[in-house]
Amino acid sequence: MTDLTLLLDRRSLRAKRHTVPLQRRLYELLRLAVLDGRLPAGSALPASRVLAHDLGVARNSVIHAYEQLAAEGYVQASRQGTVVAALRDRRAVASGHAVSGVSSAAAATPLPALSNRVQAFNRRRTVEQDLLPFMPGIPALDEFPMRTWRRLLNAAWREQSPSLLSYRPAMGELELRQAIATYVRAARGVVCTVDQVIVTDGTQDSLSLCAVALADVGQRAWIEHPGYGGARVACQAAGLKVVPVPMDEQGLAPSPMLWRRQPPRLIYTTPSHQYPLGSVMPLARRLALIEQAQAAGAWILEDDYDSEFRHDGPPLAAMQGLVPQAPVVYLGTFSKSMFPALRLGFMVVPANVSDRLQGALGDLVRRGLTAEQTALAAFINEGHFTKHLRKMRPLYAQRQTALREALSRHWPWPGEVLGGACGLHLVLTLPPHIHDVDAAEAAMKKGLSPRPLSAYGMGGLPHNGLVLGYANTPAEQMDARVRQLVRAITAGLAR
Ligand SMILES: Cc1ncc(COP(=O)(O)O)c(C=O)c1O
Repeated sequence: MTDLTLLLDRRSLRAKRHTVPLQRRLYELLRLAVLDGRLPAGSALPASRVLAHDLGVARNSVIHAYEQLAAEGYVQASRQGTVVAALRDRRAVASGHAVSGVSSAAAATPLPALSNRVQAFNRRRTVEQDLLPFMPGIPALDEFPMRTWRRLLNAAWREQSPSLLSYRPAMGELELRQAIATYVRAARGVVCTVDQVIVTDGTQDSLSLCAVALADVGQRAWIEHPGYGGARVACQAAGLKVVPVPMDEQGLAPSPMLWRRQPPRLIYTTPSHQYPLGSVMPLARRLALIEQAQAAGAWILEDDYDSEFRHDGPPLAAMQGLVPQAPVVYLGTFSKSMFPALRLGFMVVPANVSDRLQGALGDLVRRGLTAEQTALAAFINEGHFTKHLRKMRPLYAQRQTALREALSRHWPWPGEVLGGACGLHLVLTLPPHIHDVDAAEAAMKKGLSPRPLSAYGMGGLPHNGLVLGYANTPAEQMDARVRQLVRAITAGLAR
């Protein structure tokens, strides 16, 4: 008979402060001992009465533990009593499952590798960093009308019948799609019916879906260079060949040779406000891009991420509505206009593919967030969305002005400020003796989070600068923040 008192830590088993019931801990300890071979196949466990006595615990606890082990096949009842069963693989001990009193002696079997495609992905940004001054892409979170949102969310939950708790339509809730269609038609010149609107978990989700649904593995995706890393990652993860396309002051500028030699299947672009450089693609360039994409059999993914916040006049209409039946998928997000944690965005796809895409989406996605979608539809339909945008536009313009003024007062190095026509960030170029990665690292040490411009490229970028988000910093703090940034970079240079 195996002496289990040597294997089991009596004191820890009997400890009163445990939240896990004793019979469960006993079961877990015995299970691990079976799995890691300390209790070999065929060894007989003591009678429950004996073990209960030896451990000083209630007999019922031992009986329950034995019954559970037997039910799961770790032990078997036989004529000799309870005997450890023969298991095929005893090394399957996950140390995370261990309870106090046992440390696994078994060597961990190496896990299979990650896919080659994602081995290079390595995002180290933390949520704390996202909240630091100058982090691009974060809206003014403290200005969001929380009370209205909470009210609408509560109302949405009150109306939820049990059937709404099941899997929801892959295209999104109809009332939200209708609200989005009405909004983008009026505000962005998008030409669409509700059937063309697909709700997603934000633009990152839209990009991943497009990369899978509109291109085949190995086909080329053209990405703006410098450009949005999320687009590159979505395409690479889908097995597409990413081709960096240079920019000029009018946005994406592919050469005729690039069209000939490396024709794309997908073209990712941010024509309303190039991310991050900030150029606005003029009409002629938009029309030419559509025409060339049509000739090449390519899809254009128009990422309209922050065009709600136009600071120098009315926004240019979206590319999507420019040419009937253009191969353009319009991507919108509520991350900037509402808040990033909402995780709601949308795509507007051409009418003649929406049916086919709907079928594929049924297999590809499982959609939920019913209450959030319902609340967002109400937020738009009751006018809160437009009201919020109307309030945020001048606020962001004011914050941008404060940043420009602070830079002109305190920035000691030569530099050009780019891209203020729209959105939530500016780009500040740096002189060659200040490397943008070093500057961003020095800033980070002082609790500031500008992003180095070179991080938006895939190597070989001619740009050296900082991307400065201004939306989440009150105007009256901007001066102090810029002085802090200058001090951090100066200290970094002296090192
Ligand atoms: C260029 C660009 N597109 C889209 C997004 C928004 O993505 P999501 O909707 O996934 O939050 C961002 C956010 O930073 C962005 O910078």
